[in-house]
Amino acid sequence: MKVAIIGTGYVGLTTAVVLAYLNHDVTAVDKDKSKLDLLHEGQSPIHEPGLQSLLEEVQHTMRFTPNVAEAVPDAELILIAVGTPPKKNGEADTRHVEQAAKEVAEVCLPEKHYTLVVKSTVPIGTNQKVAEVVENVFSARGIQGNVSVASNPEFLQEGLALQGAFYPDRIVVGAHSEEAIDTLRRLYQPILEQTFDSPSTLPRPAAYHLPPMMTTDPNSAEMIKYAANTFLALKISFINEIAGLCEEVGADVTEVARGIGLDSRIGNRFLQAGLGWGGSCYPKDTAALLGVAAQSGYEMPITEAARTINFRQRERIIEKLRGVLKTLKGKTIGILGLAFKPNTDDIREAPSLDIIRELVAEGATVRAHDPIAIENARRALNGKALSANSELHFTEDIDKLAYDADALVLVTEWDLYHKLELRRLAKQMKTPILIDGRNVYSPQEAKAAGFHYIGIGRI
Ligand code: UGA
Repeated sequence: MKVAIIGTGYVGLTTAVVLAYLNHDVTAVDKDKSKLDLLHEGQSPIHEPGLQSLLEEVQHTMRFTPNVAEAVPDAELILIAVGTPPKKNGEADTRHVEQAAKEVAEVCLPEKHYTLVVKSTVPIGTNQKVAEVVENVFSARGIQGNVSVASNPEFLQEGLALQGAFYPDRIVVGAHSEEAIDTLRRLYQPILEQTFDSPSTLPRPAAYHLPPMMTTDPNSAEMIKYAANTFLALKISFINEIAGLCEEVGADVTEVARGIGLDSRIGNRFLQAGLGWGGSCYPKDTAALLGVAAQSGYEMPITEAARTINFRQRERIIEKLRGVLKTLKGKTIGILGLAFKPNTDDIREAPSLDIIRELVAEGATVRAHDPIAIENARRALNGKALSANSELHFTEDIDKLAYDADALVLVTEWDLYHKLELRRLAKQMKTPILIDGRNVYSPQEAKAAGFHYIGIGRI
């Protein structure tokens, strides 16, 4: 199928590469010249495990262009995967989605049928708006257009995007048009029936079942995306709230999570207590959902509370440090991990940023390590948030991070931190204090290695 994809961010690029792998004829459009230059050279502009090698494999079958007119007229299906950044009040800004729809409608051929799919995460009612934008352009052009608009929300997780694209739990389609539903079913047929040969690096999981394609109306599809992200966010916030109480009463939240997770109605995933959620999705989408609710005068206290608890986790780390070090002024703190989660260099809304800003504001010297996110964090933190004479140093050497430090804080649970030689690190520190913000280490082992160990919700 001839497919045009507008936007080559995480969702757009991953989808483009996967669809090309499934033998669709894909043209990806992006206005960002620096991204296109990289893509033309076969370089992925984003860090996503497996994406670079898959891009190299399919690149010769794809086209990248800044120009919708080169991608859209010939296409049968057009996917919009542009950003919906938050406005000042938290609501999602759909300007780029509407602009993309307008540009698409300007180059659609009269009479030819197109399926226009919104993959971006958008407030409820946006599909309707997109349909209106398209109709307005057609009437301004004085043509009879034939475009069916559909919602097809994306559930990819950063760091696991390719697994999510090849082996999804479900595909959700919201559309009123049977033709659009049929086109999307044909697009995803290789995935729905798992008829493709798995890439060598991404074998089909052993217990994987064929995913259902759920069809519904566009508003419900848009709501499914927000409700899914918000539910996962509040599941994490719930276990973090329990973790705080575990600390008060002397229980271990990892045991509690294990015990409740064995109940199949609850499930054991997304119950890892720690520093909570960051990234480009949960913080933005929970705020956007509250924005949608506010417009209807509807209160969502559970979602509000999930956010409060989430951001409180960052403050609790500072409180734990103050608790053991008394004052943070003049202390040296090593930060293990900057990315909002492992296997990505994405630092958007990362807990590390708030923690570092607060430590520096309180007069601490901060040394920060991450296997791949240092450059992004440096850019984010060099702004107005830190004063010119602040003591923030990035290092790629964990020994240097620990040397003579007063405390280490594990912020992101990168694999390499699981394997650290704790005994050696503890010996190099001025005071061997380890705040384990993701409950990665066994308290007994950390203590045996010489650390004063403080986890989240652990005894
Ligand atoms: C999330 C959803 O998982 C995807 O389904 C969705 O498509 C995506 O948002 C999106 O809307 O684009 P993502 O933000 O990449 O994906 O990351 P997650 O793996 O869901 O993790 C989010 C945050 O929760 C991370 O900061 C992680 O450290 C934290 N987390 C996760 C916990 O603190 N505890 C857990 O048990 C699980």
